[in-house]
Amino acid sequence: MNTESLQKELHTKWIGRQSLAFQEIDSTNDEAFRRAGDGAEEGLLVMADFQTRGKGRKGRRWDSVSGGNIAMSILLRPDISPSAAPRLTLVMALSAAQGIKEASGILTGIKWPNDIVVKGKKICGILTEMKVCGADPPEIVIGVGINVNTEGFPEEIRDRATSLFLESGKKQSCERVMASILEWFEKYYEVFLKTGTLAELKDNYDQACVNNGRRVCVMDPKGQYEAEAVGINEKGELLIIRDDGSMDSVYAGEVSVRGIYGYA
Ligand code: BTN
Repeated sequence: MNTESLQKELHTKWIGRQSLAFQEIDSTNDEAFRRAGDGAEEGLLVMADFQTRGKGRKGRRWDSVSGGNIAMSILLRPDISPSAAPRLTLVMALSAAQGIKEASGILTGIKWPNDIVVKGKKICGILTEMKVCGADPPEIVIGVGINVNTEGFPEEIRDRATSLFLESGKKQSCERVMASILEWFEKYYEVFLKTGTLAELKDNYDQACVNNGRRVCVMDPKGQYEAEAVGINEKGELLIIRDDGSMDSVYAGEVSVRGIYGYA
């Protein structure tokens, strides 16, 4: 990946117009924060062919083979309360699902809150990180990792991971996929900023969310239970109906929702 070939594909107003490409870096999220500290502008895009310390959610690692896959991060400084920042992960999930479809024709679903899956296997992960400094707008980095042209996965994750190549049988252009995602994100981000909520994006998200109408297992620290997922609310929480008919909302930071049918 290089900045020139990305810029040729990219039709955004400001997101990704400034971009940095690395053959190898520790983590594109970490590099975006370093650049932010040096005064980089909002919208900066950092991408890399290979990350030596790619980070996943919950302190996990994100590993992918060198070249042919997407590891990218964008820097934002939205004027929102820090508590609203995790919602941006859902905005990116929606953008990634739309962008992947537009660029490759592959239909994906969102596993709430922010994994993109194809037939129950993960194809894309999103990690949003934030730094808050006094009363200034929070500094937010959204990192996206996509298995694009990976030809095969180690046996231990083969039933849980897939790539755009494996799903379509042909090599895909990382630049095209990235450009499409960033274009969707720019549109949806503008809509999100009007209220700092998912009020206007909720319906689109619900249509893409594979959990809806399905049984989920809520891993509540107070005790795990099963329920039916029915959509999200404007805060991005998952709405569930318990077996006694009562409705509740679960927050991504407090619980993790495991599908009962395979990964989704
Ligand atoms: C997850 O599903 O656990 C989130 C994975 C996020 C991976 C991306 S790759 C680009 C960016 N840089 C990182 O170190 N992580 C994110």
